Amino acid sequence: MKMETLARKGILRITSYVPGRSIEEVQKEFGAKRWVKLASNENLLGPSPKAVAAIQKELLHIHLYPEGPCTILRKAIAEKLAVPEGRIVISNGADNLILMIASAFVNGGEEVVMADPTFPVYTNVTQIMGGKPIKVKLRDFTHDLEAMFKKVNRKTKLVFICNPNNPTGTTISIKALNDFLSKLPRHVIVVLDEAYGDFVEEVFCPDGLDYIKARKQMIVLRTFSKVYGLAGLRIGYALGREDLIHCLYQVRDPFPVHRIAQVAAVAALNDKDHVLRSIQCVHEGRRYLYKELDKMGIPYVPSQANFIFIDFEKNSEELFLNFLKEGIIIRPGKVWGYPTFARVTIGRMEDNQRFIRALKKIYGR
Ligand SMILES: Cc1ncc(COP(=O)(O)O)c(C=O)c1O
Repeated sequence: MKMETLARKGILRITSYVPGRSIEEVQKEFGAKRWVKLASNENLLGPSPKAVAAIQKELLHIHLYPEGPCTILRKAIAEKLAVPEGRIVISNGADNLILMIASAFVNGGEEVVMADPTFPVYTNVTQIMGGKPIKVKLRDFTHDLEAMFKKVNRKTKLVFICNPNNPTGTTISIKALNDFLSKLPRHVIVVLDEAYGDFVEEVFCPDGLDYIKARKQMIVLRTFSKVYGLAGLRIGYALGREDLIHCLYQVRDPFPVHRIAQVAAVAALNDKDHVLRSIQCVHEGRRYLYKELDKMGIPYVPSQANFIFIDFEKNSEELFLNFLKEGIIIRPGKVWGYPTFARVTIGRMEDNQRFIRALKKIYGR
């Protein structure tokens, strides 16, 4: 029987997510001995040492199922953010929470508004549910909330706002978000993805927590993959009004977060030193990279995240191969429709300096 007949309608047409190349994958192909991955916006300082210690202790208990609702971690997040536990749901990464949101709210044929380009998982999950992604071009590399509002209609169910936006690192303003929310009909839920929120310096950038405390029709996404340095463990959480969060629990796996991730996240959440060092590293790296790119006359989009979207003004796929020869993995912009751009993660100062040295060599400047 044909797979088109067996599979659910539309499943075979879903545009699959293309992740950044991993070190394991490229090191066989390219000769470099030391690799630095600047392709997936991980924390190059590594995990919190306290999280590593907690993991080592927990290893002896992995014969036991994890605690399903992640009660201890949820309590720790609730205390830190001063929100009731009922407004928090934890799962195995923000990716999984995005899928849960689509599973809980998007009926076949409903529309989901998002920016273009933005985090591609929003498109994937919409298509999985038989919904229709409605993409609205960025203006000046930033969400154009007015244009997005014009796309909202009776069929709209969700609006994804990635703030800061991946891949551009730009943020919306509090005023733009408030204007947008004030006009939005009640059948639409806003999903504010704050995966990179910890790195923001811009004072007029909204904080999703304020909207959760005000019980707006919004779900805010956060992750332990970025500032907390736990991307390999897959853990993140969503905040929202109790009735919205209840719907997410309805579609949640019984044990989505393993024991190791739960204890590591609790330890990382309490490791203020590591969080501060990680934020400082990104802020310093951002300034250093701006300075060097300015000197070389290479344009970039000023970023509020732990990555920079750089316009190399030449085919970035070729550039990507040249960087691989130098042992550096970046993310070419073709997937987002920007073939001369690449997204480069801000690393430790030695990683940033290595990137700039390689760039000078490749550019011959
Ligand atoms: C904007 C955005 N949201 C969500 C995620 C997924 O985060 P997680 O690692 O928690 O699945 C990413 C990952 O890079 C991201 O860039």
